[in-house]
Amino acid sequence: MITLDINGKPHQIDLPEDTPLLWALRDYLGLTGTKYGCGMALCGACTVHLDGKPVRACVTPVSAATGKKVVTIEAIDQDATGKKVQEAWLTLGVPQCGYCQPGQIMAATALLKQKSKPTDADIDAAMSGNICRCGTYTRIRAAIKQAAGTTEVKP
Ligand code: FES
Ligand code: FES
Repeated sequence: MITLDINGKPHQIDLPEDTPLLWALRDYLGLTGTKYGCGMALCGACTVHLDGKPVRACVTPVSAATGKKVVTIEAIDQDATGKKVQEAWLTLGVPQCGYCQPGQIMAATALLKQKSKPTDADIDAAMSGNICRCGTYTRIRAAIKQAAGTTEVKP
């Protein structure tokens, strides 16, 4: 039995230690906000935070999450930065189909927690691993800037 700290609460998980964290979250605990895209660390749909850092839950074994704080999209609004990011996403209507968006929000929140006023290059570096088949990249960038308070005011 493994105990994981997820969204501030302890959860007992009866799964093999090499089970991907994504399966534990979605199938075992029913936290389906975190999405499965590729299963190979290529798309970012499964991004969660482990001690505040963005990780790919599809390739992170549950054993790697023990003793750490796991945060998923379900609780991101309990974080001041995450709440700002979600609000910016809503204001700018970022999602299209929405499938990649939990991962995008988790990656953007991790970026802003580490760097409150990111440059375009910072945004590129932090977000390039999160693929959006609908091509919402322009709105994602704008929403990150809005959440950071760096949106240019047009004359
Ligand atoms: S599902 Fe994990 S990176 Fe694509
Ligand atoms: S909004 Fe559809 S994949 Fe990103």
